[in-house]
Amino acid sequence: VALGSREGDKLKDLAQNTKDTTNKDRLTTDYGVKQGTADDWLRVASHEKTGPMLLEDPFARERIMRFDHERIPERVVHARGSGAFGKFRVYESAADLTFAPVLTDTSRETPVFVRFSTVLGSRGSADTVRDVRGFAVKFYTEEGNWDIVGNDIPVFFIQDAIKFPDVIHAAKPEPHNEVPQAQSAHNNFWDFQFNHTESTHMFMWAMSDRAIPRSFRMMQGFGVNTFTLINAKGERHFVKFTWTPELGVHSLVWDEALKLAGQDPDFHRKDLWEAIANGVFPKWKFGIQAIPEADEHKFDFDILDATKVWPEDLVPTRYIGEMELNRNPDEFFTQVEQIAFCTSHVVPGIGFSDDPLLQGRNFSYFDTQISRLGINFQELPINRPTCPVMNFNRDGALRHTITRGTVNYWPNRYEACPPAAKEEGAYVEYAQKVMGIKARMRSDKFKDHFSQAQLFWNSMSTIEKRHIINAFGFELDHCEDPVVFGRMVQRLADIDLNLAQTVAELVGGEVPKQGRPNHGRHAPALSQTEFPGSTPT
Ligand code: HEM
Repeated sequence: VALGSREGDKLKDLAQNTKDTTNKDRLTTDYGVKQGTADDWLRVASHEKTGPMLLEDPFARERIMRFDHERIPERVVHARGSGAFGKFRVYESAADLTFAPVLTDTSRETPVFVRFSTVLGSRGSADTVRDVRGFAVKFYTEEGNWDIVGNDIPVFFIQDAIKFPDVIHAAKPEPHNEVPQAQSAHNNFWDFQFNHTESTHMFMWAMSDRAIPRSFRMMQGFGVNTFTLINAKGERHFVKFTWTPELGVHSLVWDEALKLAGQDPDFHRKDLWEAIANGVFPKWKFGIQAIPEADEHKFDFDILDATKVWPEDLVPTRYIGEMELNRNPDEFFTQVEQIAFCTSHVVPGIGFSDDPLLQGRNFSYFDTQISRLGINFQELPINRPTCPVMNFNRDGALRHTITRGTVNYWPNRYEACPPAAKEEGAYVEYAQKVMGIKARMRSDKFKDHFSQAQLFWNSMSTIEKRHIINAFGFELDHCEDPVVFGRMVQRLADIDLNLAQTVAELVGGEVPKQGRPNHGRHAPALSQTEFPGSTPT
């Protein structure tokens, strides 16, 4: 990596905190005093035998105490992950959409760190389980950090962030015996899905081959939520962000995923590490879908609803940039584990929308990182921006920036941090007109929960449909409660009658007789006879 580049800026910054354990430095305590050996605890010894160990030994106590406190809480979701450094560049300016140089300046190279993850398993769980994959990108831009905290599936289970604790609790291990929903009992997960028709589109994706990717290098990434871009003329567009891998999108088959989970649970982690170590750098194209502000209400779905895609025949994806991952982490804990992504990290020219899932996420990430990493988490080497940070935030556990001077408030007589106008680079919120009543409600367009699930099913090839049917066969077969799998089979009839009938034959329960009219576009539903050999595998 050329250290003259912007990519090198972040590496130079990290070098200030990096030490090489293979050099010939002497062994010391954490407070710097040299030690001769780390083999024997100080003790009372006589000629014949050794006696009691002495609590006095500060070196031995320090070693044990440091070890005792090595673990921090794992992420409440997305605990298992892998990451890498890389660079991002736009090859076509998006100046018609935004004034953010990271998306307009084609001569710029922006350093990035990316973390891929599974959602539900703990830190030590297997890589190849059926699950959504996280795809989180931190851009160290010259205007501050910008994070796209996305997934490999373009939609989500819920529309409103208030439901996040429920969907995650229902999918995480059972509270009484800690048996993971994803591997054994599935009652709570599918009970949640039945009780939330808004989840229908997402669970179809989760039962598809997208949920068992072949490699992190072969996954798409989606920002999922609707963001906004503001251009130099002050015009606003609603946007969605997409990463598409140069290697194409590939999945395992279920049989492979099951075997790998047993034989090689680090399959994805090793695949990414080895590719980068061998110079086979994974690349993704960066795309934007954009809807002018004036067209917000011209679609038959709500463009702020995270359970909906923006079909590309209505809103094409424009590919304008490329990301390459080219450097493995130096140390897992201080980089992959301590990195803290926040959807609220945006730079001038990029903004939020009223997407009710995004607004809740903007609160949640910052909040959870206070308990995972502490209030000064932004100072950690992997998280700090490459541009200057100056404000009057103070103190807190493990603060290590030392600020000189007496001024600790704003504004002040020294004119420290003087006010700045937008032209001087200040972040200015878009002057959005807002009017309404205070209420807990969603607009009517949020209430169509089946059309896009049908659209997804109709767009699958025969073999992909077979895989989805088999996935339902496997998953619902693990529900012990007949009410849960029985109701879910009926729910599938809201998507496609043949799908529901075939799954009913695999898992039991009443075979549905009537389906919902198919509103989806694309090919009509396949006849049941196309799946004669479908069995849970
Ligand atoms: C973590 C994506 C919805 C709360 C993550 C991570 C990703 C992600 C990729 C892992 C970040 C990392 O690698 O460190 C998404 C996507 C969502 C979504 C795409 C839907 C559009 C939500 C919602 C909430 C939430 C609705 C809460 C209201 C969290 C929390 C973490 C997390 C608390 C752990 C963060 C940490 O400890 O560092 N999410 N998430 N997410 N997400 Fe989400």
